[in-house]
Order: sequence, then C-alpha cells, then structure tokens
Amino acid sequence: MARLNFVQFIFLAIVYAGITGKSPATAEVMKGAYWFEQPLLPPSAIETSLFSHLYYAFVMPNNVTFKLEISNSTATSISNFIDSLHSKDPTIKTLLSIGGGDSDSLVFSTMASNSSTRKIFIDSTIEVARNFGFDGLDLDWEYPQNPKEMNDLDLLLKEWRLAINLDATTSGRPPLLLSAAVYFAVEFFLSNTSRSYPVASMNQNMDWINVMSYDLHGAWSNNTGAPAGLFDPKSNVTVIYGIQSWIGAGALPEKVIMGIPLYGRTWTLKDTSVHGMGAQAVGAGPGNGTLQFFQVEQFNNDTGATVAYDVNTVSAYSYSGTSWIGYDDPLTVTAKIGFAQALGLRGYFFWACGFDAFNSNWKVARQGKILFLSPCINNFLSSVHCELTHKSEVTLVKK
Ligand SMILES: *[C@@H]1O[C@H](CO)[C@@H](O)[C@H](O)[C@H]1NC(C)=O
Ligand SMILES: *[C@@H]1O[C@H](CO)[C@@H](O)[C@H](O)[C@H]1NC(C)=O
Ligand SMILES: *[C@@H]1O[C@H](CO)[C@@H](O)[C@H](O)[C@H]1NC(C)=O
Ligand SMILES: *[C@@H]1O[C@H](CO)[C@@H](O)[C@H](O)[C@H]1NC(C)=O
Ligand SMILES: *[C@@H]1O[C@H](CO)[C@@H](O)[C@H](O)[C@H]1NC(C)=O
Ligand SMILES: *[C@@H]1O[C@H](CO)[C@@H](O)[C@H](O)[C@H]1NC(C)=O
Ligand SMILES: *[C@@H]1O[C@H](CO)[C@@H](O)[C@H](O)[C@H]1NC(C)=O
Ligand SMILES: *[C@@H]1O[C@H](CO)[C@@H](O)[C@H](O)[C@H]1NC(C)=O
Repeated sequence: MARLNFVQFIFLAIVYAGITGKSPATAEVMKGAYWFEQPLLPPSAIETSLFSHLYYAFVMPNNVTFKLEISNSTATSISNFIDSLHSKDPTIKTLLSIGGGDSDSLVFSTMASNSSTRKIFIDSTIEVARNFGFDGLDLDWEYPQNPKEMNDLDLLLKEWRLAINLDATTSGRPPLLLSAAVYFAVEFFLSNTSRSYPVASMNQNMDWINVMSYDLHGAWSNNTGAPAGLFDPKSNVTVIYGIQSWIGAGALPEKVIMGIPLYGRTWTLKDTSVHGMGAQAVGAGPGNGTLQFFQVEQFNNDTGATVAYDVNTVSAYSYSGTSWIGYDDPLTVTAKIGFAQALGLRGYFFWACGFDAFNSNWKVARQGKILFLSPCINNFLSSVHCELTHKSEVTLVKK
C-alpha cells in the first residue's frame, strides 16, 4: 500500500474511470505529428526517431475546379519535406494533409456534394500523392456542418477508397493510406445542428482517424479551463468523453488516434489572487490566447510563474500576475498515453511537431516515444488494484 505521486495517480484515474486494460492494437502503431512550414523547425531539424508518421500540413483544392493543384513554391516545400525525412529515415511514413482549421469548409462541402467534383478531387489527390512520393492522404475538413454533409463525407470516403484500391492494383504499389482529422467527439453535441460522423464508412474506408482531442477550453470563454483535460467531474467536454463517444458509436479502437496539443491556451485573470482551474478571466492572455509548448516553458522560466497540476482534469497550468496558461507537459502526456493504451487505441499524434521543446531534447514527443507500448505501463495497468480515498490522495494496493 502506498501514497502516490501525480504520475502514479493519473494512471489510477484511468483505472478509476472504469477502463480495463486491453492488449495493444496489433496494427502498426501511430506516433504521429503534423508539420507545417515554419522558420524555427525546417524538416531537416525534425528528430525522426521520435515519430512513425509525419503529416505535411496543409494543401487545398482549387475552390472552383476542386482539383488539388500544387503551386511551385509548395512543391519545393513538399519535396524538401519528404527528401529531408527520408534521408534520415527511409522507413518513416509521410502523408499529405488537405484542409486545416483555417481553410474554407465550403470548398469541401461543395466538392463533396457532387459526384463529378468528388471524382476530380479524389483523382487529383492520388496523382499528387504519387507524384511526390507520399505514403498517404489525410483529410482535415473542419467541419461538415449538418447531416447532409456527413452523408456526403460518407460517399467521398467510399469513392476515395475505391479509387485508392484501383490505383494500387494498376500501379502495383501498396495502396495509399487514407486518414482524417476529426472533431473530439463523434457527435457535435455542443452545436445546435446535431450531426454525427459516418462511423461505419470510416471503419471500412479509412486506415485510421486522428481525433482532435483538444481546444476544449480557451479564452473564448471567460473562465480558465483545461484545453485538453482528460477528465472533468462537471462536464462532458473532455478527452475521455470524446474518445469514448467514438468507440461507443462503433469506431474500432485500433483505428482511433488520440490528438495531443503541443500548445497551451492563455487567459488574463480578472483577479490575480484567484488563479485556479475555472477562475474568472477577462479575455486572452500572452500570445493572444495561444502559446506553443516551448514558449510556455520560456514564459514560466522568464516570469518565475507558478506551475500547478490539476488532478481532476489531469492537466498542467501556470500563472504569473494576471497571466494564466493551461497546457500539456511531459507528465500529463504520460497520463494520456497510458489512457490511450488502456483503451487499445492505435497511438497518438501531436499538433504540431514544431511546438515541442526541440531545443531541450523534444521532451514531450520523447515521452510519447518511450512510453507508448512500454511494458511498464502495461504491467502497471494490470498489476494494481486501486482505491481512491479522496481527490488528491490515492491508495495503491498490489494485486
Ligand atoms: C476562390 O478563392 C479566391 C482566392 O482566395 C477568392 O477570391 C474567390 O472568391 C473564391 N471563390 C469561391 C467560389 O469561393
Ligand atoms: C512552375 O514550374 C514549372 C516547371 O518547372 C514552370 O514551367 C512554370 O513556369 C513555373 N510556374 C511559375 C508560376 O513559376
Ligand atoms: C456537378 O459538377 C459538375 C462539374 O463541375 C457540374 O458540371 C454539374 O453541373 C454539377 N452538378 C450539380 C447537380 O451541381
Ligand atoms: C443555439 O441556439 C440558441 C437559440 O437560438 C442561441 O442562443 C445559441 O447561441 C446557439 N448556440 C450555438 C452554439 O450556435
Ligand atoms: C454527459 O453525457 C451523458 C450521455 O452521454 C449524459 O447522460 C450526461 O448527462 C452528460 N453530462 C453532462 C454534465 O453534460
Ligand atoms: C469576457 O470578458 C470581457 C471583459 O470583461 C468581455 O468584454 C467579454 O464579452 C467576455 N466574454 C465572454 C464570452 O463572456
Ligand atoms: C487575437 O485573436 C483573436 C481571436 O482569435 C483574433 O480575432 C485577433 O485578430 C487576434 N489578434 C492579433 C493581434 O493577432
Ligand atoms: C530562465 O530565466 C533566466 C532569468 O530569469 C534566464 O537567465 C535564463 O536564460 C532562462 N533560461 C531559459 C532556458 O530560458
């Protein structure tokens, strides 16, 4: 019997949440990250040993023809991305990601609504992927707006899979991978227009789905919160609720990837003496609401901020003066990875590669690389029975 520290506690929280340990998926494990063109982290500086799959973000189809066209400057950037990665690790998988949070969702909804434009889009994505030597394609349509658009997504995925299979047969090459970045929950339950993803079609036609288990709280609401909290006793806006909603709707766990943000969300506190989780705020904090993980570390160091862990949500936060930042760090990522593994998920991905503390040994991504599928997590999950006495005190009983 032992009192537990934070890391041990969060594993217990996993067990406490009623999740039983499952053997890990047998499919190829995903330790992924999205990368976009940024001066601080050229592709040559990516520590490829930490990742199995890297996504080039983002490209868009032409908004009139719906054909994926790559400009010369993007072509140079893509070639540099693929060549740099392959020169370090010829086995690393690369995917071309189409869309993104800032893209115009009307382009996707219009394209997907018509069988001729779906075909133009699909054929052009396969051609571009093959021309550049990508291993796969990733759709980041944020988001289908209503049930009709979800139905169109279903059709798009079916036709995309058929075209990919046909391409593999005619080219004699392995089929391109097909994935998508999706909302944190299977249903848009926070929206007035309720709609759910076409899970059956996704299981059948996609290699996996990247669940964006983040952006759950931010300065758009005037209370501090965990941007990607695992749990929340008072709300369903959590990573665990979202992932369980996907699995509950039939998504195969081995096709589900948990997204982990390598950035924090920031607030300006209303009252510097009230600085806990849920404290009142008056708007965005440093970085206009967002700081990348390495910037959070810099901020904490430079301002001498207080760093705290919130056991209820399994998240980190720091505060200094009126500034408040909620984020994930190596400790909370340890918990998330244990949780992903306990559910039998395929793995995890980061948004985004270049936000990690790459100048100090990539501490977050390295944590994932070391821990996912590590026997010590499996042993821990299967060897303990735990008793939660009260919030911050846990008793561990060996089986
Ligand atoms: C297509 O994109 C261009 C350039 O961004 C924009 O000016 C135009 O209005 C868009 N057209 C449609 C149909 O969305
Ligand atoms: C793009 O590259 C092609 C082939 O190298 C060249 O023919 C074309 O002129 C270039 N286009 C632009 C806009 O620079
Ligand atoms: C579908 O797209 C094609 C090609 O752009 C166009 O000719 C046709 O009119 C569209 N059909 C409908 C019903 O919008
Ligand atoms: C839902 O509808 C209500 C009433 O029309 C409105 O006040 C609210 O802002 C809407 N919420 C969202 C998320 O659109
Ligand atoms: C969370 O969702 C479940 C159904 O999935 C519902 O029964 C419960 O009331 C919800 N809880 C909150 C706090 O919204
Ligand atoms: C947040 O607080 C600011 C300042 O008090 C106010 O202007 C804004 O409307 C509030 N936002 C929300 C979403 O309540
Ligand atoms: C700050 O963020 C808000 C909301 O995301 C955005 O509207 C605004 O343009 C941003 N301001 C700056 C200076 O980037
Ligand atoms: C941490 O802050 C101190 C000053 O408070 C500074 O001298 C030092 O360089 C900082 N270290 C890092 C890694 O940013």
